[in-house]
Amino acid sequence: MVFAPLVFVVAAAVGATAVGVSPGQITDLVTFGDSYTDVVAIGDLGTAAWPNYTATYAGIRLHPFAKSGAVCSNNLTRRPFPSFLEDEIPTYLAEIANRSLVLRPENTLYTIWFGTNDIGRAALLTGDDPGVSLVEVTACIIQGVKTLYKSGARNFIFQNMIPLELTVLYAANSYPNSYWVFERNTTEWSIFMREMTHSVNKLAELMLQALIPTLPGAHIALFDSHSLFQDMYDHPALYLNGTAPLNVTSGVPRIQTPSD
Ligand SMILES: *[C@@H]1O[C@H](CO)[C@@H](O)[C@H](O)[C@H]1NC(C)=O
Ligand SMILES: *[C@@H]1O[C@H](CO)[C@@H](O)[C@H](O)[C@H]1NC(C)=O
Ligand SMILES: *[C@@H]1O[C@H](CO)[C@@H](O)[C@H](O)[C@H]1NC(C)=O
Ligand SMILES: *[C@@H]1O[C@H](CO)[C@@H](O)[C@H](O)[C@H]1NC(C)=O
Ligand SMILES: *[C@@H]1O[C@H](CO)[C@@H](O)[C@H](O)[C@H]1NC(C)=O
Ligand SMILES: *[C@@H]1O[C@H](CO)[C@@H](O)[C@H](O)[C@H]1NC(C)=O
Repeated sequence: MVFAPLVFVVAAAVGATAVGVSPGQITDLVTFGDSYTDVVAIGDLGTAAWPNYTATYAGIRLHPFAKSGAVCSNNLTRRPFPSFLEDEIPTYLAEIANRSLVLRPENTLYTIWFGTNDIGRAALLTGDDPGVSLVEVTACIIQGVKTLYKSGARNFIFQNMIPLELTVLYAANSYPNSYWVFERNTTEWSIFMREMTHSVNKLAELMLQALIPTLPGAHIALFDSHSLFQDMYDHPALYLNGTAPLNVTSGVPRIQTPSD
């Protein structure tokens, strides 16, 4: 097994090599994203989301802005949920402006994880947003990095998209569930999803590499969530050690049936 979730760390300083932050430097974690990152409205109710674990294990403060259902921009893929550019970033900036949140750029790490709701059902996959493609959606997420940089943010972890084609909603052997009960060709959805996640991830990587020289003093790490989830799917015993039988093709009870 070859597994390296951190794909690259790039620094913008002239002549800088790929040096990231130092141990102990980070004291504050600011998170942006969708339900994968939301710490309140989470899928597996009653459990802790990854930002809580991260903050607890690292001994740092958590400032969570991710919201379930979020897309990058509701101007691109309209959904009835708060979005990154119109809601999450403005809320963060308002808290900075009124000093209810006080952060030092060199001690703060920003995580950004979007795309799942933008490209999925009731969005790009089902043609709900004419004229919008993976290109605009990916550029939008990168725009969020730029906006945060302009407001003073310097240290970023950009998390890429997981292999959504393996999830219950988009798998070839899917079944009606609480996210989609209408007829569809599950084989085609799964094939499209694989194309989409791979394309967005490569676009984001290239766009970030093009962006970094324009952001002096910034550090951006690309966290390869895609490989992490693929590896969990392929080798669940390396990650899951509870008492229930290992199962990577099912979901939390809430999404299992249309009636839930
Ligand atoms: C996770 O962290 C947030 C923000 O600090 C907090 O509101 C929430 O209660 C925490 N959740 C758990 C399960 O610890
Ligand atoms: C979204 O559209 C509204 C209305 O046109 C506009 O005011 C807003 O600035 C747009 N948001 C972004 C992030 O471009
Ligand atoms: C600061 O702004 C945030 C976000 O708009 C708001 O929720 C909070 O109540 C404000 N706090 C103060 C002290 O004004
Ligand atoms: C579903 O799509 C696959 C791939 O395009 C195709 O081979 C298959 O015949 C389709 N199934 C139905 C029932 O149309
Ligand atoms: C699972 O792994 C964690 C972390 O290594 C350990 O603390 C826990 O005891 C393990 N649980 C079981 C049931 O083996
Ligand atoms: C995983 O769970 C689903 C739903 O309960 C079940 O249909 C499937 O057979 C399980 N797979 C394994 C490998 O146990």
